[in-house]
Amino acid sequence: MVMFKVSKVETTPFDGQKPGTSGLRKKVKVFKQPHYLHNFVQATFNALPADKVKGATIVVSGDGRYFSKDAIQIIIKMAAANGVRGVWVGQNGLLSTPAVSAVIRERVGADGSKSSGAFILTASHNPGGPNEDFGIKYNMENGGPAPEGITDKIYANTTTIKEYFIAEDLPDVDISTIGVTKFGGPEGEFDVDVFDSASDYVKLMKSIFDFESIQKLLASPKFTFCYDALHGVAGAYAKRIFVEELGAQESSLINCTPKEDFGGGHPDPNLTYAKELVARMGLSKDHPEDNPPEFGAAADGDADRNMILGKRFFVTPSDSVAIIAANAVQAIPYFSAGLKGVARSMPTSAALDVVAKHLNLKFFEVPTGWKFFGNLMDAGLCSVCGEESFGTGSDHIREKDGIWAVLAWLSILAFKNKDNLGGDKLVTVEDIVRQHWATFGRHYYTRYDYENVDTGAAKELIAHLVKLQSSLPDVNKIIKGIRSDVSDVVQADEFEYKDPVDGSISKHQGIRYLFADGSRLVFRLSGTGSEGATIRLYIEQYEKDSSKTGRDSQEALAPLVEVALKLSKMEEFTGRSAPTVIT
Ligand code: G6P
Ligand code: ZN
Repeated sequence: MVMFKVSKVETTPFDGQKPGTSGLRKKVKVFKQPHYLHNFVQATFNALPADKVKGATIVVSGDGRYFSKDAIQIIIKMAAANGVRGVWVGQNGLLSTPAVSAVIRERVGADGSKSSGAFILTASHNPGGPNEDFGIKYNMENGGPAPEGITDKIYANTTTIKEYFIAEDLPDVDISTIGVTKFGGPEGEFDVDVFDSASDYVKLMKSIFDFESIQKLLASPKFTFCYDALHGVAGAYAKRIFVEELGAQESSLINCTPKEDFGGGHPDPNLTYAKELVARMGLSKDHPEDNPPEFGAAADGDADRNMILGKRFFVTPSDSVAIIAANAVQAIPYFSAGLKGVARSMPTSAALDVVAKHLNLKFFEVPTGWKFFGNLMDAGLCSVCGEESFGTGSDHIREKDGIWAVLAWLSILAFKNKDNLGGDKLVTVEDIVRQHWATFGRHYYTRYDYENVDTGAAKELIAHLVKLQSSLPDVNKIIKGIRSDVSDVVQADEFEYKDPVDGSISKHQGIRYLFADGSRLVFRLSGTGSEGATIRLYIEQYEKDSSKTGRDSQEALAPLVEVALKLSKMEEFTGRSAPTVIT
C-alpha cells in the first residue's frame, strides 16, 4: 500500500470566493491560480461538521469540463490530508448533477459505507474550456446543495484562511479505470473508489419509470426520437438509458460524447443554444426539415436542465411541469400512490397552479433556486416541481433532473398511446399540450433576458419598478396610457418567501405586477451570471377560453410586452432596444 504524509501549506485569502446560487463559478484562469481551488476546498472542509469529513466518505465528480481532471486530483489529495476515509469518483470524473444526488442518497460502497456529501465540479450551462468557466459546489447528505448556513460559513472561511492540508506525495489516481485504490496515511487507510458513472442512476430511473412501456413506444415505427446532450455529461447516460435499456437507435443521439469544451458550444438547452436539435425538430427557419422526429429533448452541461420538443413544437418548461404533474399518477409508477404536493418557482407560469387546484394538491410558490424545493421534499410536502429556467424534477433526488424529465415525457407519451401503438397516428407531444390547454387553459409565456447590462443601471431599473409599486392607481394610469387593452394591476410587490418548513424568510426575490385577468409581469436580476448584471423579464397571460388557446405566443403577449418595456423604461435604463435572448 502506498503511504502518504500530510503537508500544511500556508496561504492567504482570495477575494470573491462567495458561492452563488449554485456554488463558486469563475473563469478557469481564476481557478488555476496557485492555491485558489485549495483555499475553497479547505474552507469547505472547515465549514462542515467534523464527522462529515474525518472518517467520512465523499463523492467528487462533475460534468467533465476543462480543469475537472486536475481539480479531482487536488481534491483527492486534500481529502486524504483532512482525514476523509474514502473518495468516490465517477469513471473519468463524470457524474451528472442529478446522478451525484442519487449516488449520495443511494450508493453503498463495497464495505457497506455511504457517502456524506459531494464536491460537484460544474458550471452547469456555462461554456467550458481554457478561456471559459469552471465551478465547484458542495452537496450534503440529503443529496441537495449545501444550505446557506454552510455556504456562508464557507465564504467566511475563505476570507480568513491561513493554511490548508494536502497529501502532496499521494500519487495521481487513475480515474479512467474502475476499481478501488488503497492508500495509507497518518490517520489510517484512505481509499479512492472509481465506479461506473451511470449504474446507480440507471437503477434509480428503473425503479421510478415503467421502462417496458417506454420500450414499446420507442419500438413503434411511428415514434421517432432525438436526444441532444450538447456534449455535456448527459451523453454518459443517454446511450445507457435510451439505447441500451430502452432500445432507441444510436442515431437518435446527437452530441452525446462528453467534451471538456462542450464542442465549443454553449451547453444550455433552449431554442437559442440547442441549434442542431432545434433544426432537426423542424423549428429552425433557416434549416427547414422535411421529416422531424416526434419527440426531441436536450440537456445542459451537467444534465440537470432539460428542454422538451415535439415535432415542430416547443413545450415551455412551465407547461412541462404542469403536464407532468397532471399525468404523473397514471403514467409514472413512482407516483401511483398520489402526489404529496407540487411546487414551482415564482417566475414560472401559473400553469401548475391550475393543475394543483383541479387535483386538490398542496401547492407551493418558492423563490428562484432549486434549494427551496429541497426543504419541502425533505418534509414530505412536494413530489413534483419545476422552474421556467428549464429545470424539472421530483423528490427522487434533491436536484433537478434532465433525463428524468425526458423519461417522464416518454412515460406520458407511452401511457397516452398504450392502446394506440398499432393505430394510424400516435398521440403527439403537441396533442398532449393542446389537450392540456383545452382542459386547464393556457398560460402564454415568454422571458426576455438582457445580459451583461451595467450593474448600476440594472439596480436603478429595479429601484424604479419598486418605487412605482407604491401607488397602484398611478401604475394603472401609466399602463392605460401605453395600452388600453390590458387589464388592471391589482397587486404589485417584491416577492418574499417564508419557508413553511424552517420558517426562514427570503426577501427581494423579484418584482411582481399581478393583473386582474391573471396576467403577470415579473422582473428580477439573475443570480447566476458571471459578468455585469442580467435582467430577466417574465411575461405571462392566462387564457381560459379554449377557442383562444392556439395563438402564437409572441403575438398574444405583444400588448403586455409593450407595457413591460415602457413601464420599466427598459431602453432608457439599459440602452438596449432588444433583449439578448428570448425564450
Ligand atoms: C440555476 C439554479 C436554478 C435557477 C437558475 C436561475 O440554474 O439551479 O434553480 O432557476 O439558476 O438562474 P438565474 O440566472 O435566473 O438566477
Ligand atoms: Zn445545470
